[in-house]
Amino acid sequence: MGKKIVVMTGSPRKNGNSFAMTDAFIQAAEAKGHTVKRFDTAMMKVGGCRACETCFQTGKPCSFDDDFNTIAPAILEADVLVFTMPVYWYSIPAQIKAVIDRIYSLVVGGKDIAGKECALIACCEEEDRTVLDGVRIPLERTAALNKWKMIGEVLIPGVLKAGDIDKTDGCRQAAELADKI
Ligand SMILES: Cc1cc2nc3c(=O)[nH]c(=O)nc-3n(C[C@H](O)[C@H](O)[C@H](O)COP(=O)(O)O)c2cc1C
Repeated sequence: MGKKIVVMTGSPRKNGNSFAMTDAFIQAAEAKGHTVKRFDTAMMKVGGCRACETCFQTGKPCSFDDDFNTIAPAILEADVLVFTMPVYWYSIPAQIKAVIDRIYSLVVGGKDIAGKECALIACCEEEDRTVLDGVRIPLERTAALNKWKMIGEVLIPGVLKAGDIDKTDGCRQAAELADKI
């Protein structure tokens, strides 16, 4: 049966490497009958979590009403969460990190977000695969804490310029990720 997939991207480069892998994944997932909602977080307005702990008290997930409140209902409904991003300074880019931080509101609000499947698609310039640990490890630990099952990771080092991904098998791997759902 088709699942509800939410894809959250973290790159501001529409023609970039992680977007190319994201597109390959979405195309494959939709071909399998899944429903995909995509949020390009770098083109949205999402601020950081202010830890005010007033989540849901205004009737919305976050009391600071920005685009996170449009992403939150989709996350709540989703069977599968897919995060796609480049590495920025050995870590998660600020725009998508803000979205991940704001998932805190769903936890504080007592929402049942356990049992979802989760996947990561990421890339970086350096050839050293351990550079990707900066996004892989926080996401794996976040998934474990929230009781999400990590179903796959596509981690592609050695891509700098937009289009470099075509010199790798990143898009093929991203498409094959859809087989794991
Ligand atoms: C602000 C910034 C910081 C970056 N930091 C790193 C880094 O720490 N290590 C690395 O290997 N690549 C780093 N990169 C390179 C990107 O990860 C790389 O170009 C990637 O392919 C970009 O993906 P995109 O095309 O999806 O945006 C950085 C790029 C930017 C713009």
